[in-house]
Amino acid sequence: MICSNLSVSFDGHLLFAGQDTVSLANEYGTPLYLMDEARIRERCRTYLDAVNEAFAGNAKVLYASKAASFKRIYEIMREEGMGTDVVSMGEIYTAKRAGFDLSLAYFHSNNKTDEDVAYAMDNGVGHFVVDNVEELYAIDRIAREKGIKQAVLLRLTPGIDPHTYAAISTGKVDSKFGSAIETGQALEITKIALSLENVNLLGFHCHVGSQVFDSDVYIRASSVMLKFISTAKDALGFEAVELDIGGGYGVRYTEDDPVIDIRANIFSVAEHMKKCADELGIKLPCVCFEPGRSIVADAGLTLYSVGTIKDIPGYKTYVSVDGGMTDNIRHALYGAPYTFYAADNMTAEADMECSVVGRCCESGDIVGENVLLPRETTRGTILACLTTGAYHYSMASNYNRVAKPPVVMINEGKSYVAVRRETPEDVASLDL
Ligand code: LLP
Repeated sequence: MICSNLSVSFDGHLLFAGQDTVSLANEYGTPLYLMDEARIRERCRTYLDAVNEAFAGNAKVLYASKAASFKRIYEIMREEGMGTDVVSMGEIYTAKRAGFDLSLAYFHSNNKTDEDVAYAMDNGVGHFVVDNVEELYAIDRIAREKGIKQAVLLRLTPGIDPHTYAAISTGKVDSKFGSAIETGQALEITKIALSLENVNLLGFHCHVGSQVFDSDVYIRASSVMLKFISTAKDALGFEAVELDIGGGYGVRYTEDDPVIDIRANIFSVAEHMKKCADELGIKLPCVCFEPGRSIVADAGLTLYSVGTIKDIPGYKTYVSVDGGMTDNIRHALYGAPYTFYAADNMTAEADMECSVVGRCCESGDIVGENVLLPRETTRGTILACLTTGAYHYSMASNYNRVAKPPVVMINEGKSYVAVRRETPEDVASLDL
């Protein structure tokens, strides 16, 4: 099994976090997002323990809440002592409702509107990660109007290719995010930030990509960023006190994906950064990590019920499920692969090749290609799609006015609803 929170019961059912997925499907209905609370907490602790030890306490872990954003997640992050990265008024509002201390939040986005900026300041968001010069001036202006000095980091593009899907690669110079070091724009925005009275420049940020397995990607990115910090010190006399190196560690969607030892990786990044800082003659700033996917991805799976099975002789077999691109857009968007199991028939041989498709009126509504399922899969079979804790609920849509599934958490042998199932009335509730 690709993840240690999965096992099989004596009667051939898939167990997730020790719970029978078929019983949970019967209790809560399908489609259903399940999440393993203990796994989420374990991942937070892995990061927190590793950064505290490797950087002797001079480091932070910020949960990138775009991966899965709902009230209960922020409560868990609060309890675990994590910071968070937020990207919209909606995420700020949700974190606030969970009682999350927003002074620990970092506000991202490449195009914050004046309304976003004012909302974040009014709610006490501690740090802004500034993407560009226009935004920097807007933050300074709005902070002045509010009589505050806003702490900021500047998002820079280090010019690193992380070898992931093009749509989630962000560290290259040609990117909509950040100010490029290579073009001189990074030094320029630093100079401007230092000249503004209502911003307090703390340091820099970069995020090179997501679902990254290149073990040296953070090593390469941190070399570039620390070199820039030393350049800014020499050119402008500015010594950064924070360096946020973003998120990105990849997770296992299939057996082909490698396992990343996050703790070991953090230790080698720390070692490298300390050496680099020494060589450059700079003090190592407080280092922030911003993991999203690697905190929640394998703490989640989706359960579907099989409906129609269509065999087109000489072509393909289509297995339709009661969800699809509305709860999992990642296959349609990135061609992302997944692992599927017949959750109620785990001991049968998976010998039928098929495409698992959703029920939207669109041919691209596919969640898995070349999937192997048991031949006896039939209407009513419960299908599990693994590793859906990150970027599934948060990217779910109401296309075709399909209602979103609930998020049910499992903890200490019990299950509870963290987000309830939408109804057709919810979906139409904004129509005037
Ligand atoms: N920090 C920043 C500034 C980010 O933009 C992201 C992700 C993260 C941290 C967290 O990265 P992670 O640890 O989750 O890789 N929808 C795509 C992923 C988009 C990632 C966007 N930014 C997907 O489903 O694969």
